Amino acid sequence: MITAIERLKIRLAVSVELSGKPAKVSEVIRGFQATEADGVWHLYRGMKQIDDPRERAIIFGHCLEEESHADAFVKAYKHYGGRVFTPTHYERKALYAGDEPIWKTFAFVHVGEVDATQRFRILSQELPPGALKDCLSNVVSDEEGHVDLTYEMLKRLGATDSAIRSEVRWVRVRRLWERWLRTGKRLIDNLANISLSIVYYVFGALLFGAARRRLARGFVTYDNNKMKHL
Ligand SMILES: [Fe+2]
Ligand SMILES: [Fe+2]
Repeated sequence: MITAIERLKIRLAVSVELSGKPAKVSEVIRGFQATEADGVWHLYRGMKQIDDPRERAIIFGHCLEEESHADAFVKAYKHYGGRVFTPTHYERKALYAGDEPIWKTFAFVHVGEVDATQRFRILSQELPPGALKDCLSNVVSDEEGHVDLTYEMLKRLGATDSAIRSEVRWVRVRRLWERWLRTGKRLIDNLANISLSIVYYVFGALLFGAARRRLARGFVTYDNNKMKHL
């Protein structure tokens, strides 16, 4: 069901919002790049809290792959945007407080891998041939591997299957809430922009009329002592 809704949303985005609009495509790619770069940051933080050198080496390899995805998206951005890439800044904060077991951080990463694999796969299927489709196809094959990699890591870090299931449910609720907050913020920003535009154009039109009438008289009088009366 979620896949069907997701597919519909992506299909609409591809055919309505992105089709024939390389500038919009480049903005979407900028978001993907930020997500990949953000993932590296969380992985790296998680890695520093693990002592086992084998696990650290696995996470480091994972970091390198996510970094290569971020680089691939920068390349795709330049292809569509035709300009220098400027990164989006994410607010970076730890996923969990210090006393939570480290596997929970990787549960969060695991959910991100599942969602990224699903969305990138659908998007690459819906897109017409091109640089972004090629880029996503390569990324998806790595992401599929990351889903299993992170799940196995959770178990090696001591999480049971039932604990993983319950944490994944909690992560999904948390991600949904964060998405809702972002949507709400975007909505408020848009409403503020619309209100300011209305004020600007209404006042602009009135002041334009007044200025035009004054200028039509050939000279403009101005009381230099006006400020003194205030
Ligand atoms: Fe990735
Ligand atoms: Fe990944």
